[in-house]
Amino acid sequence: MITTFLTLFFPFLALASQYNISSAPFHLVLQCSEDPTLNGKPLAACHTGVTIESLCVPQPGSGRYEPAAVLYHNTSIQVEANVTTPHQYPQLDDAMQWGTRGILTWLMPFQPHPIPSAMTLLPETLVDIAIPIIRMHDLGTMISFDSNDMFVLQNLIDWEAEVPGFAAWKGYVRWWVCVTFVGTGYVRRNLVWGTGLGRPDLESCVKVDVKRVFID
Ligand SMILES: *[C@@H]1O[C@H](CO)[C@@H](O)[C@H](O)[C@H]1NC(C)=O
Ligand SMILES: *[C@@H]1O[C@H](CO)[C@@H](O)[C@H](O)[C@H]1NC(C)=O
Ligand SMILES: *[C@@H]1O[C@H](CO)[C@@H](O)[C@H](O)[C@H]1NC(C)=O
Repeated sequence: MITTFLTLFFPFLALASQYNISSAPFHLVLQCSEDPTLNGKPLAACHTGVTIESLCVPQPGSGRYEPAAVLYHNTSIQVEANVTTPHQYPQLDDAMQWGTRGILTWLMPFQPHPIPSAMTLLPETLVDIAIPIIRMHDLGTMISFDSNDMFVLQNLIDWEAEVPGFAAWKGYVRWWVCVTFVGTGYVRRNLVWGTGLGRPDLESCVKVDVKRVFID
């Protein structure tokens, strides 16, 4: 019950720490018509602090070894089981058309064991973006992949209404690649979530779509 309550009221956060069902491994691949050099590029996990990574576009010739990140979509038996009674909360059924909600996970290389890490959107206060950050954690921002394997976020609140309120679940795609400043000064070309309706304030932003491509 508590989980249901929290899921309904804080639908963007994974709550119980049981996102332990891992998908097959995949890369996140950019689709971009504004900048053809980005089209088809897989995102890498780039160091942006101690055990913190961003999802970046590797820079050829930078001398840095930044291979395509091997990522997973961890889901929860609780989300898949409709949390409690099926159809008691029809909003949860609506969510399915945008794919099962879960967290984006990565295994941070570490000796002797890799560290399970999850992606969280880190909102900026002065510009209209949130930066995906992968950190050592078993919780993160709730994300989904739709039936075309596109990376989407789902929202249950209609913010465009004069009086925002609960509505049907809806999928959103607001991905950009922008040059960003992260942490203590890691300046990279990163995947970014636009928190506004249009093009973000940053001049460097290029519109992208992000597709999950499973690794054979
Ligand atoms: C995953 O978490 C659930 C609790 O939600 C638990 O019942 C199950 O055993 C866990 N599975 C694994 C593989 O750890
Ligand atoms: C994702 O699921 C796998 C398989 O159960 C688990 O080993 C890993 O710790 C999970 N990752 C996170 C960040 O919770
Ligand atoms: C909820 O349950 C229905 C019927 O059991 C199922 O078809 C649907 O996929 C479930 N929704 C979620 C979010 O798991």
